[in-house]
Amino acid sequence: MSPEVLARLMGYHCLYAPEAELRDLCAAFARTAAQAFLEIGTHRGCTSAAIALAFPSARIVTLDLPDSLRTTWNPLPRAQVGEAHRALGVAHRIDQRFMDSDELWRLTGCGECFDLVFIDGDHSPAAVFRDLMLAADLLPPTSGTLLAHDYTDPHEPARPNWTLGVQQAVDRFIAARPFRKHRLAGLLVALERA
Ligand SMILES: C[S@@+](CC[C@H](N)C(=O)[O-])C[C@H]1O[C@@H](n2cnc3c(N)ncnc32)[C@H](O)[C@@H]1O
Repeated sequence: MSPEVLARLMGYHCLYAPEAELRDLCAAFARTAAQAFLEIGTHRGCTSAAIALAFPSARIVTLDLPDSLRTTWNPLPRAQVGEAHRALGVAHRIDQRFMDSDELWRLTGCGECFDLVFIDGDHSPAAVFRDLMLAADLLPPTSGTLLAHDYTDPHEPARPNWTLGVQQAVDRFIAARPFRKHRLAGLLVALERA
């Protein structure tokens, strides 16, 4: 991705260490079959636009709430949801859906499958745990990666308070399902099959 494109994306990001996190997100997706990417929590669309630019053949689905103002997690008027897709000319590449991630089981029921699911919607412990459990069923049977944002490990010296619930949910998930966690840049954690 050119420095000019990266600079344009920066106007739409909702990340913690955007350049390093986008680099690690792209690298994590590249380590999979990299055919299909799902994001929970579109917001302005920085991450999904970046994936569309970096992976020109990938299928990209991103979802946000039907009423994106009715959340305590980065509320945004619906007209601004996914605005980076339009600004960077990749809206035609991205399947932008408006649905609550608690309905993710519907995608499984339709046979949808994703090589990487990026979980960045409702960051409360119960919602992150639910999203992880439902997203795990959307991965290929023996491969695929889950990525969660706003995670810190308990031993880290700097722990923003909004990362604590995500950590609780991730640890509850890996106690329930055979996945290993790998800490990535910024506030990213990857979960891969053990
Ligand atoms: C931190 S922002 C996402 C940032 C985006 N992933 C990015 O990388 O630029 C959180 C988004 O999640 C959405 N959200 C909150 N709860 C959700 C839910 N239950 N289902 C889907 N989206 C949700 C919010 O509306 C908000 O736009």
